[in-house]
Amino acid sequence: MKKIIVGNWKMNGTRDMARELALAVAGCGGDARVVLCPPAVLLAPVVEALSGSRVAAGGQDCHAKEKGAYTGDISAAMLKDAGCEYVIVGHSERRQAYGETDVLVRAKATAAIASGLIPIICFGESDAERSAGRAEEIVARQVADSIPDEAGEGNFVLAYEPVWAIGSGKTATLDDIARMHAHVLGVASAHTGLSGPQIAVLYGGSVNAANAAEILATPGVSGVLVGGASLKEDEFCTMIKSA
Ligand code: PGA
Repeated sequence: MKKIIVGNWKMNGTRDMARELALAVAGCGGDARVVLCPPAVLLAPVVEALSGSRVAAGGQDCHAKEKGAYTGDISAAMLKDAGCEYVIVGHSERRQAYGETDVLVRAKATAAIASGLIPIICFGESDAERSAGRAEEIVARQVADSIPDEAGEGNFVLAYEPVWAIGSGKTATLDDIARMHAHVLGVASAHTGLSGPQIAVLYGGSVNAANAAEILATPGVSGVLVGGASLKEDEFCTMIKSA
């Protein structure tokens, strides 16, 4: 399986910056599957800049319904129509700020698959949960409850992002990452009937050019989900090449 490198721009960027950065990423080379997830209003310039390249575009969230009276929301079908191939669902920033539950995340992932998008389903324990020795239990519950029944080989991606590692400059140790990814693969294969090698699990949380290569080489890691460092052209390119 090719390594998957996802750039989550979060709420950052302008049209000019988006065009420039997407063009630069499209020119990075390497053999990885690269996905850029800009804010929805910047999808148009990003998709245009990426056309003809092997880099894909993705949304940062979607609604569980296809259309209707949901002011401010965007459906998976709309993201697909805008040129996306992927969508992030269940990011911890959304779970925290909007109270998104596993049930909702699962509904969003179902909607994504129904629209022909690959959901990148995020989960991870908080600092308090880890300190209480509950990391594996929390992650198992999130994984089992967030993966839709429609999940099959190649139509979904998982992303383990310990909440305390996001934007903090702290990353999990390679041992912790290997252990948690093995745990996630076990739970996800029991849940889907797929075998470990058929399931992609990304790691996210303060991944940067200095630590990406060793994280990508860790057993059970299919790729990385990168926030802050994906906004820096040189740094993100270095990560893509190290895959
Ligand atoms: P970070 O964010 O790389 O800035 O820690 C990762 C994420 O939130 O997906």
